Amino acid sequence: MSIILAIESSCDDTSAALLRDDYTLANSVANQRIHERYGGVVPELASRAHQQNIVPVVDMVLSQAGLSVNQLDAIAFTRGPGLLGSLLVGVSFAKAMGLALNIPLIEVNHLEAHILSHFIKEDATTVTPEFPFLCLLVSGGHTQIMLVRDVFDMVIIGQTIDDAAGEAFDKSAKIMNLGYPGGPVIDKLATDGNPTAFQFAQPHIADYNYSFSGLKTSILYFLRDRLKEDAQFIETHKADLCASIQRTIIDILIKKLILAATQLKIPRIAIAGGVSANSAMRRAITETGERLGWTTFIPKLAYTTDNAAMVGIAGYFKYLRGEFAALEVTPYARMSV
Ligand code: KG4
Ligand code: ZN
Repeated sequence: MSIILAIESSCDDTSAALLRDDYTLANSVANQRIHERYGGVVPELASRAHQQNIVPVVDMVLSQAGLSVNQLDAIAFTRGPGLLGSLLVGVSFAKAMGLALNIPLIEVNHLEAHILSHFIKEDATTVTPEFPFLCLLVSGGHTQIMLVRDVFDMVIIGQTIDDAAGEAFDKSAKIMNLGYPGGPVIDKLATDGNPTAFQFAQPHIADYNYSFSGLKTSILYFLRDRLKEDAQFIETHKADLCASIQRTIIDILIKKLILAATQLKIPRIAIAGGVSANSAMRRAITETGERLGWTTFIPKLAYTTDNAAMVGIAGYFKYLRGEFAALEVTPYARMSV
């Protein structure tokens, strides 16, 4: 039996979690509202906020789980990819705590963690994916179809050549002045809209790859023309615009997923990352899965956007293998799985 403390600080969420083996005991996220007024994450402000949040968030999970630091067996932390200044806060905190408690450190890749979130157990009824499966990882920084052959044996079989799906949501929201992050806002406003009210450009990209920059341009030109005729166009068509943009992004995502699942004959499909929190996306995956005979894995909302529980489960698998990090470990900004 192992108790692992996990830390996630790769972008603008400071999160800590405690896991007993593969079960979460506590998972807490301190969101940084400070970036909203800038319409995007400001790296310098993010690292400063991580410094303020990290001790309270770790204290919070310890008290939620009723554990003391002396009961910890290891500390897992996100090493990258992400914002260097943000990662540094989590890495330094983990090192200091590991050193003070004389327990091992475990480095975790943020993207592997998103995918492995499907192995976090809530109770004995939790069903985890069988290998191999395909995972569509859709976040603010990444959009990839991953062939997952084993816990740490993953290959990218398709990915975006420009913007990530989360960026497509965020940039669309920015064009319409809806605030940041755009994904949750569009998701909410789309509820009352007609998803086929407006048509936007869809990319023609080879293989299992994606592109979202054309969609952004298509939205930009469409709105520019409409606003010339009616300055209130966005305001009066907000719900339909959101629903149509959301539908287009989801269509693009699902088409390639169907292609990959069919050609590779893998009927086990998971989604992960911030965009997998999208309500229409979750419905679309479920419906497509029912139609095509897939077994689908849709993460609990708490494990979609950045969280430390996913870092904890990745850490647990490494703990079992005795894969520990040296005290000299430094964060990295870029690197895929
Ligand atoms: O995984 P995540 O928290 O951070 C990264 O690793 O990037 O993903 C953040 C992204 C943002 O682009 C955000 O707009 C998007 O996930 N997102 C959503 C929703 N919730 C978060 N996109 C669409 N619908 C949502 N409900
Ligand atoms: Zn993420």
